Amino acid sequence: MFLFTTVADYRTQRRDWQGKTLALVPTMGALHQGHQALIREARALADVVVVSIFVNPLQFGPQEDLAAYPRPKDQDLAICEQLGVDAVFYPSPLEMYPDGPDHVTRVVPPASMTEGFCGAFRPGHFEGVATVVLKLFSITQPDFAVFGEKDAQQLAIIQKMVHDLNLPVRIVPHPTLRNERGLALSSRNQYLKTPQEQEAALCLSQILSGVQQALTEATAPLPAEKILERLQAAVLAPWQAGPVSVRVQYLAAVDPVTFQPVSQLQPGVRVLIAAYVNQVRLIDNCLLT
Ligand code: PAJ
Repeated sequence: MFLFTTVADYRTQRRDWQGKTLALVPTMGALHQGHQALIREARALADVVVVSIFVNPLQFGPQEDLAAYPRPKDQDLAICEQLGVDAVFYPSPLEMYPDGPDHVTRVVPPASMTEGFCGAFRPGHFEGVATVVLKLFSITQPDFAVFGEKDAQQLAIIQKMVHDLNLPVRIVPHPTLRNERGLALSSRNQYLKTPQEQEAALCLSQILSGVQQALTEATAPLPAEKILERLQAAVLAPWQAGPVSVRVQYLAAVDPVTFQPVSQLQPGVRVLIAAYVNQVRLIDNCLLT
């Protein structure tokens, strides 16, 4: 497996891969089973698999702890090697932003897709994501790029960027990996320290399953706002007096492509949730069938 830390070194090798198909899996490292599923999908898709590992300063807000983001480099490289990855692109911030992150040309996704949901609470975040992903595409030149549905707003914004800027890459969405109890895998889950917090974290997927069940059983159109409110209240009720605080930041039904809210629950609609379990912010979503 190759390990490249500079664009120049990667480019030299890229020339040797002319004529082969290449799949990129962009990550920030601390690779868990969710990332690994994306890498396996990439392995099945293309001749050459490249994983990028870069903790992107551009997508962290001033209040978010960029310095504390985990960087288990040796462990991540061992995982990539084991999964048959051909090359890891592991640049430094200086390699990616030689003029400094404040002096970089940025990609600005449409406000209609960034101002709601996660974007509302993380100003500039999706601009930072779109900018780094475009850079990674132009550096690595993939035919395919695999993204998790776990970060559904990110996925929709990347798909829109590829469409609007005519980028020659196919975005391949991968379903969310969950633990045996339904909790979506995330590097943040390690901050759920107590068994009660871990139990409370299941509220997110329980609300989403409740929405799907309501739709499956429905005989008439379902008004989104009313049903979501009702399910949220029912699932959170046992936690109101408990030792763990569960606070929903948003719960909404949207068009999966435009990310605009919809008023009715029906197949093809994406339901999004973000919630704080004590101090830990978790997100999850599902596509209604
Ligand atoms: P990161 O959080 O490391 O996630 C890398 C990829 O793994 C993303 O596409 C994400 O959606 C996917 N992923 C995370 N948890 C998952 C799960 N439980 N199941 C399936 N896929 C999962 O997302 C980023 O990095 C960055 O914003 C990035 C796109 C790399 C740009 O910096």
